[in-house]
Amino acid sequence: MKQITTATIKQMKQNGEPITMVTAYDYAMAKNVCEAGIEMILVGDSLGNVVLGYNSTVPVTMEEMLHHTKAVMRGAQGALVVGDMPFMSYQASVVDGMYNAARFLKETGCAAVKLEGGSEVCELVHKLTQAGIPVVGHIGLTPQSVNQLGGFKVQGKSAAAAQKLLDDARSLEQAGAFSIVLECVPELLAKKVTESLQTAATIGIGAGKYCDGQVLVCNDLLGFTDGFCPKFVKRYADVHGEIVNAVKGYIADVKARSFPAAEHTFKIDDDVLDKLY
Ligand code: KIV
Repeated sequence: MKQITTATIKQMKQNGEPITMVTAYDYAMAKNVCEAGIEMILVGDSLGNVVLGYNSTVPVTMEEMLHHTKAVMRGAQGALVVGDMPFMSYQASVVDGMYNAARFLKETGCAAVKLEGGSEVCELVHKLTQAGIPVVGHIGLTPQSVNQLGGFKVQGKSAAAAQKLLDDARSLEQAGAFSIVLECVPELLAKKVTESLQTAATIGIGAGKYCDGQVLVCNDLLGFTDGFCPKFVKRYADVHGEIVNAVKGYIADVKARSFPAAEHTFKIDDDVLDKLY
């Protein structure tokens, strides 16, 4: 399989070819999504919610992110893997951000990092890209700032907020980001942002169809749980239902002593058994 690089993503934007991205958090999922032909994998800090059971991404640590990114890298073939910088791994200082971003590339082998924020992170984005670390920006609904945003809401609805979002996208591109995630942004604002950027590919989640690409959390897309599902998610499978039914079947078979059957069982010669005392 051909290796996707940042140059491929830039070229896809120029060609108007939609870019596909999903999150993955482990070896098996990375292998599966690559087999399906996905172009980009985000090892998102959403793993805090969907894998580790935290109620936000705020508690996620660098060590947790590195652990899962290494697992994804062992399964990913061809896709461009992006490691997500967790809360407070880059907000306190540019030096922290440089050091932690470098850890992603050096310790996991992933090709890029993602970080949340607009103009306030541009100095860091510039320094990272100058140092050879490709960066994906993330604006709109930025879950690490949920306590400041006052909840998970659509962003950029007022004229001032929309202008700030557009300015942030332009600043991130100027600083060197090769791609920008737009989360929970009105469709026509995402279109305006996408058309305003010359090189940085927009990747939408809850941002409508005019972005250069789309990203979904793989657990949402696959229906891993039957709980709350955001409006912008389309479920392509009911893995939750499949798992519950499969495990119910296993429990029933074990209780009925119909599993394991002969074909799952190892044999021993009678004369060996006869020698036992
Ligand atoms: O952590 C994550 O999964 C993300 C996506 C929602 C873009 O940031």
